[in-house]
Amino acid sequence: MHYQLGLIGYPIEHSLSPWIHEQFLKLANLNGTYSIMEIDPHDSFEKEINKLNDKQLNGFNVTVPFKKRIIPYLDELDENALSIGAVNTVVCKNNKWIGYNTDGAGYVAALKNNFPDFFRDGSSKRILMIGAGGASRGLYYHLLMQGFDCIDIANRTESSAKSIASLNKTNTRTMILDLEQGQEAINRYDLIIQTTSVGMKPDKDNVIMTVKKVKENSIVSDIVYQPLETKFLSQAKSAGASIHFGHTMLLYQAQYAFELWTNQLIPITDMDQQLQYILEGR
Ligand code: ATR
Repeated sequence: MHYQLGLIGYPIEHSLSPWIHEQFLKLANLNGTYSIMEIDPHDSFEKEINKLNDKQLNGFNVTVPFKKRIIPYLDELDENALSIGAVNTVVCKNNKWIGYNTDGAGYVAALKNNFPDFFRDGSSKRILMIGAGGASRGLYYHLLMQGFDCIDIANRTESSAKSIASLNKTNTRTMILDLEQGQEAINRYDLIIQTTSVGMKPDKDNVIMTVKKVKENSIVSDIVYQPLETKFLSQAKSAGASIHFGHTMLLYQAQYAFELWTNQLIPITDMDQQLQYILEGR
């Protein structure tokens, strides 16, 4: 069997997903290709999606800006993806397209791998999530399943944060803050997660808020991975926090996507380090 895999999104020319999935294919001893299938958002999405049908794909990833737009073209939607309202992985099987979302689970797996102790006494842990976009939604949804004491959301627009908080059917408490309030209260949290694109290359000098007063032993995480160490993470590191890099989420969401396509969960091993070298060289 030859696995035909790929990625749709825009712009994706420099995506690291082909490298990651080629490593997985090698490690799994499987034949296959993972292609970049860029779609210009100004072209007819429907026409471009129909073209994919002719490619005999076994599955593909979906990234910005199509994670929501793909949904009407799917035959089935996994329960998590339905709640999150976004799809990053499609499995093509028996002439059906089935949508999943592995972003949030990937984030939690990456965090667990780097900071297993953080989950041991989860019910005493307080989390601040900064941002309330598509990525935040998946993260929030999966973090809720871990039974943390509270997951507060700080965002520029209150209504977006409220919409995410409405996903909460658990005992975890959520307070909505604006960015200034989040910054003021920063020393109350054990984990702070930056989920917006602020600080991404080329705007790498931007930070969404100052994290100079973080609590001792806190973890500060950024989902931006270009640059590998964002200004947000550098500030937190200087303030004494442990930092959690964004490229790990990319690796683990890919690991779960690959499992959905091939039924094989490939260990990340030294891919984390290799990906760091690639990103540092950019
Ligand atoms: P995605 O869906 O890919 O995560 P998005 O919908 O653009 O991306 O959401 C990005 C998040 O980053 C949003 O919470 C956005 O805040 P708003 O809800 O107020 O729009 C936040 N964000 C992006 N740029 C920002 C900036 N310069 N300052 C503050 N927040 C920003």
